[in-house]
Amino acid sequence: MARIVGGLGTSHVPSIGAALDKGLRDTPEWKPFFDGYLPAREWVREHRPDVAVVVFNDHYNALFLDRVPTFAVGCAPEYHPVDEGWGPRPIPPFEGATEFAWHLLDSLVENRFDPEIIQEIKVDHGLQVPMELFWGRPSGSWPVRVVPIFVNVLQYPIPLPARLYELGQALGRAIESYDSDERFVVLGTGGLSHQLQGARAGFLNREADQRFLTEIAEEPGKLAGWSRQRYIDTFGGEGAEVIMWLVMRGALNPEVVVRHRHYFAPASMTGAGMIVMENA
Ligand code: DHB
Ligand code: FE
Repeated sequence: MARIVGGLGTSHVPSIGAALDKGLRDTPEWKPFFDGYLPAREWVREHRPDVAVVVFNDHYNALFLDRVPTFAVGCAPEYHPVDEGWGPRPIPPFEGATEFAWHLLDSLVENRFDPEIIQEIKVDHGLQVPMELFWGRPSGSWPVRVVPIFVNVLQYPIPLPARLYELGQALGRAIESYDSDERFVVLGTGGLSHQLQGARAGFLNREADQRFLTEIAEEPGKLAGWSRQRYIDTFGGEGAEVIMWLVMRGALNPEVVVRHRHYFAPASMTGAGMIVMENA
């Protein structure tokens, strides 16, 4: 059966990709941020995952307000990076793990989740940035195939944190029931605290971000029990997207070992967090 080798959490701020495109990686502003990911990249090289299930949200780049799936699973053979307005980015397309994606869809329906089925879509910074942070920019193709899980965290009503945790548990069962010897990682993306608009624009909560990095490993059930309003109050209107990490965490065992953890703020206007966990 397939095996989950780890769960990775990370912010997915678009300016991270822009900084790499502009050659700013080693500037004093960005170097401490990117250097914090070096141990995680080493972990990925050592553990050689075959498939990355990436939990993220589209930011009105490939989907718009005319259709807002609460959950959607990509089962496309290929995902091209979407142009978010600055021109095409110099990164290769992502190959889809189509067979597992269909297994996941069936398994989710069996578990009473009914996601939208997406057979053609482009992917924005929500997926691009985490992939580049953990795998680096490849000279040829990406060394891992992807299955995107799209979550609506923009248009209210967004899903309950508890529901995302349950979705992760169903994802974990889908991976463990998949007849294959492939190695899986699950990525939870977004956050940490930030608010880009409104009266609290510029809001950051470093203490809550650090506590989140501890509790996502040690007390995920507690975080799953928070209300949506509490996420917004604590992490900001956009920072509430951090609930997507609960899908990643739900796919892991109740007990995990934290291999790497990093925090840097501000990255753009956000608290940028990273974690690498393995099942204990
Ligand atoms: C920004 C966008 C995001 O999707 C995010 O998660 C954090 C920051 C931004 O535009 O700065
Ligand atoms: Fe985002």
